[in-house]
Amino acid sequence: MKGRNIVISSILVLSVASIPFVWSDDDSEEWQEYSRHSTGVAKITNPVYLQECGDCHMAYPAGLLPADAWQRVMNGLEDHFGDNAELDPSTRKQITDYLIANSADKSDYRRSQRFAKRDKKSNDNMRITETPYFRHEHNEILARLVITNKEVNSFSNCNSCHQKAEQASFKERDILIPGYGRWDD
Ligand code: HEC
Ligand code: HEC
Repeated sequence: MKGRNIVISSILVLSVASIPFVWSDDDSEEWQEYSRHSTGVAKITNPVYLQECGDCHMAYPAGLLPADAWQRVMNGLEDHFGDNAELDPSTRKQITDYLIANSADKSDYRRSQRFAKRDKKSNDNMRITETPYFRHEHNEILARLVITNKEVNSFSNCNSCHQKAEQASFKERDILIPGYGRWDD
């Protein structure tokens, strides 16, 4: 019975050890990472991407779009939503590889798995704001809070409403729409 006791006591040790981790409400790194897995997407880890793709808009975390959509975005940088965002070939390749390896369909973050869901329009989509999950989450938000709101302008400016978008967190309690206030649903 000795073997069994060891098994039982290791189970006990393991579960006791994980309690403070799962239940604490502190700001420790472990807790933040655990919480991000279930409610956020992975943070950006590539400094070149942050620098090259974070000038005109926030650099979007890779886990917000599936790989094929990133590939299309990176294939068309010379005409990027009306702007020229061209890069030299080696930088472009480095960023493309990073985005694809960390894309929504390759991520184990729950929120990314939702962004990876597809519909009829997904085959040529290049926008986070046109993914089925994005549209579903934002369909109740009125145009006057976004398009004609000078402080927001476009749904593409995630960080004007999601205060922690650049830290890859989209929790409801961190939403603040300029000129409107907190979102209560
Ligand atoms: C010269 C400015 C500029 C640079 C540099 C730039 N972008 Fe953009 N990007 C834009 C504009 C403008 C839009 C359209 C925004 C809108 O519709 O409000 C956009 C939109 C996007 C969107 C779609 C957002 C949505 O609506 O869901 C993605 C994805 C994107 N950019 C990725 C990138 C990546 C990756 C890079 C780096 C290779 C990059 N951008 C660099 C100007 C830029
Ligand atoms: C005009 C403000 C605004 C902008 C811009 C915006 N969002 Fe949101 N977002 C909201 C609001 C409000 C909700 C909550 C909607 C609801 O629950 O009815 C929401 C919900 C979400 C959710 C679900 C949160 C949850 O806990 O269920 C995600 C994920 C999200 N947004 C991501 C994004 C991303 C990514 C962008 C940029 C591409 C973006 N949003 C741009 C206002 C905005």
